[in-house]
Amino acid sequence: MRVILLGPPGAGKGTQAQFITEQYSVPQISTGDMLRAAVKAGSALGVEVKGIMASGGLVSDELIIALVKERISHADCERGYLLDGFPRTIPQAQAIIDAGIIIDAVVEIRVEDNEIVSRLSGRRVHEGSGRIYHINHNPPTTDGMDNETGEPLMQRPDDLEETVRNRLSVYHMQTQPLVNFYTQLAASDDPAPTFSTVDGLGLLADVQARLVAALR
Ligand code: AP5
Repeated sequence: MRVILLGPPGAGKGTQAQFITEQYSVPQISTGDMLRAAVKAGSALGVEVKGIMASGGLVSDELIIALVKERISHADCERGYLLDGFPRTIPQAQAIIDAGIIIDAVVEIRVEDNEIVSRLSGRRVHEGSGRIYHINHNPPTTDGMDNETGEPLMQRPDDLEETVRNRLSVYHMQTQPLVNFYTQLAASDDPAPTFSTVDGLGLLADVQARLVAALR
């Protein structure tokens, strides 16, 4: 099972990925999480991408394609994986095809821009694990603390409103064209992943049920 989750920042890709990876026993490959770990570690990669991420721009295709290719060569990906946040541009999607990687399904989670801004301002994350909460829609049991470890939650630096608006504009310009790309691919005669869109509004469990139906 090889799945791509598409959608704007704050659509709920990471939240739903946590559920899907448990349900199907495949790893979640989040390019955002990988880059944030590099920034935190202060590695050469982290130093290179820190400013780009803070501004809401995209890291270079070349760098991100190499990162993902290396990650999916690990043994835990043999039974499949869930790509969260990759591909994000047409060259990234084309690189998957050129590398002969077979993807089974692409699912777009659709949410309007005004909802995104409110979601991201209320998002809190557990830095160590990447577990995602929302102060209203998905609060931790104890205010400000991770449910599993009891450690404090943090706000992502790129969740400031101005940066979120920039991320949304980058999404519309560079990532949304992938919806057409995968729609046309699915309609072609070539072996191609299925493509579906699910409504990302509503209770987490309802979005989850829509995703399960789309993956079936
Ligand atoms: P990345 O970490 O991938 O960020 P993103 O795609 O912008 O997505 P988010 O993590 O912000 O949102 P999400 O859809 O996962 O939503 P979540 O589940 O958290 O990328 C960060 C940066 O890294 C990029 O800006 C770029 O610089 C770089 N990068 C990464 N990949 C790259 C690539 N391939 N190429 C180039 N550069 C790359 O949910 C959001 C909030 O909403 C949470 O609080 C959650 O609790 C809440 N929520 C979720 N579902 C619901 C619901 N149904 N109702 C109400 N609230 C909900």
